[in-house]
Amino acid sequence: MTELPTDGPPRDPASKVNLRDAFASFDELWQPHAAADVDGYQLKIAKVDGEFVWHAHEDADELFLVHAGHLTLRLRDSDPIELDPGELFVVPRGVEHQPVGRDGCEIVMFERAEVVNTGTAGGDRTVAVKPLD
Ligand code: NI
Repeated sequence: MTELPTDGPPRDPASKVNLRDAFASFDELWQPHAAADVDGYQLKIAKVDGEFVWHAHEDADELFLVHAGHLTLRLRDSDPIELDPGELFVVPRGVEHQPVGRDGCEIVMFERAEVVNTGTAGGDRTVAVKPLD
């Protein structure tokens, strides 16, 4: 698995996180921010719009939970998953997927901290997770 350096949240880990405030703290699209660290897993949040790249994570499951807007998860060889706020789906390891956001989509992802956003596809959409301000 390709690994990128991942900065965890700089805050006191005992302090609470307000997701609405966290989403309001940045404007970049497709830039994951770390909202919490959990035993090597990370809660990552991102604002997304339009199509991301098709990619897969060979040895990592990836949970998507929609906080706002609408997310379509296109899956190779199966029907797309349509997610509204409060709905989640786990993309199984190895399954090629393409997230597509609309309507001011805000997503929460839960996965191992070192999972790279573009998986095995790589390319210029690959970014490291940023800490929240
Ligand atoms: Ni993915």
